[in-house]
Amino acid sequence: MNRPALAHWRAQTPGLQHVCHFNHAGSSLMPQPVLDVLQAQWQREAERGGMEAAASVASAVDATYQDAARLLGAQPDEVAFSTGAGAAWGRLVASIRWQAGDRILIGRQEWASNLALLQDLSQRHGLSLEVLPSRDDGSVDPDALSTVLDDRVRLVSLTWLPANGGLINPAAEIGQRLRGSRALYLIDAAQAVGQLPVDVNELQCDLLVAAGRKYLRGPRGSGLLYVRRERLAELTPPYGNVQTQPWREGRFDWIDSARRFEDAELAPAIKLALGEAIRYALDIGLDTILLCIDQQAQALRQRLATLPGVTVHDLGLQRSGLVSFTVDSLPASVLQQRLRQQGIHIGANGVAYTPLDMQARGLHELARASVSYYSSDEEQHQLYHAIHALIPQGEYL
Ligand SMILES: Cc1ncc(COP(=O)(O)O)c(C=O)c1O
Repeated sequence: MNRPALAHWRAQTPGLQHVCHFNHAGSSLMPQPVLDVLQAQWQREAERGGMEAAASVASAVDATYQDAARLLGAQPDEVAFSTGAGAAWGRLVASIRWQAGDRILIGRQEWASNLALLQDLSQRHGLSLEVLPSRDDGSVDPDALSTVLDDRVRLVSLTWLPANGGLINPAAEIGQRLRGSRALYLIDAAQAVGQLPVDVNELQCDLLVAAGRKYLRGPRGSGLLYVRRERLAELTPPYGNVQTQPWREGRFDWIDSARRFEDAELAPAIKLALGEAIRYALDIGLDTILLCIDQQAQALRQRLATLPGVTVHDLGLQRSGLVSFTVDSLPASVLQQRLRQQGIHIGANGVAYTPLDMQARGLHELARASVSYYSSDEEQHQLYHAIHALIPQGEYL
C-alpha cells in the first residue's frame, strides 16, 4: 500500500471527516474535484438558466463521452449516459425486437430489477428465461454454454460482480464462448466499473451498463451504457426525444449512436461530474485501484472471520471488494442500523436483491462491507471493534 497516495486520496474525500464508510458498493463518497464540478454547473444553471448554462459547457460535456469510451475501451459513439445502471439496462433490453420462442440465458446472480423486467418480457412475448448452471465456486459455468447455445438464444445477460458478495463471474470467458452467436451479450457491470479494468473488446460483450455512484465515485443519478457499433441497428428504444429521434426529411429518425438510449433531461451537471469521476479513476489507474481494493478486501475477510459468531460468505475463486458475512443472532439489517448510529456504514442485502442466488444458497440476509481503494486499515479496525462490541453483549437478543 502506497501510504502517501492513500493519504492524498483520503484528503480529497470530504465525507471521510464524518463517516467510516464500508458501503462503496451501495454508493461511494465523491472526491472533492467531482463535487466541485457538480456544484459549479448547478451554480451556472441558477445564475444563467439551464439552457444557456448547458450551451456554455457543450464541449466539456462532449469530452465526457471520450473519457467514458476510454474507460471502457470503446469508441465515443458507442457510449451514452443514464441515470443509473438499472435504467440503462432496462432501456437496452426493452429495445430488443423479441420474437416468440426467443431464449434468454442468465446467471444465478442476476440483479433483481433485471430479473423483474425479463420475467415481464418473457410473459408478454412468449420468451424462455433460463438460468445457466453454476460451478462449484458459485460462478456461472462458461462450459455450459456449449450445450445450451442455439440460434434461438437472443440474449445472454450476466451480472458480472453480484450485489450480494465478493464473487467475480468469468465475464470474458463467457464472451469468448458466445463469439459468432446471434445472441446479444449484455454485462451488468454496476459493481465492476471503477473497481476493475474494463475492456469491452476483451470481454467481447455487445452491451454493458455501469453505475456512476458506486466504484466510480460519481454523483447519485448517474450511469453509463455501452453498445457495440455493429449491434446498434438491432435495437430500437421504446421511446425517444427530440435529440435521439430528430425530425429529418419529413420523419423522425433514430440517431446513429448509443446516445439514442439517452434521456434528453439527463442533467449536464451529472454528466460533467461523472466525466470528472471517470478521469479521476483513470488518473489513479484501474490496475492500482484493483490492487488496493484486493488488499483491503482480503484483510477484511480475514479479520471478520476471527470474530466469534461471524461467518464470511463470499464465493468465487477471484473476489471483489464486496465482503459478505453474517453474525449469529444479529440480523444484517439490525447490525447495519446499530453501526450507522456510530457513523459506520455497511450494506444489508435481503433475498429480494439477488433472489435466485440467495434462495439457491439458503440465505435470507447478508451484511455487506464493501471496501474501496481509499479504505484504510484504521477504518477496518474501527469496523472490527464496533462489530465485536455488538456481539458479546448480545444487544439484539
Ligand atoms: C449488480 C447490480 N446491478 C444493478 C444495480 C442497480 O444500479 P442502479 O441503482 O444504478 O440502477 C445494482 C445496485 O446495487 C447492482 O448491484
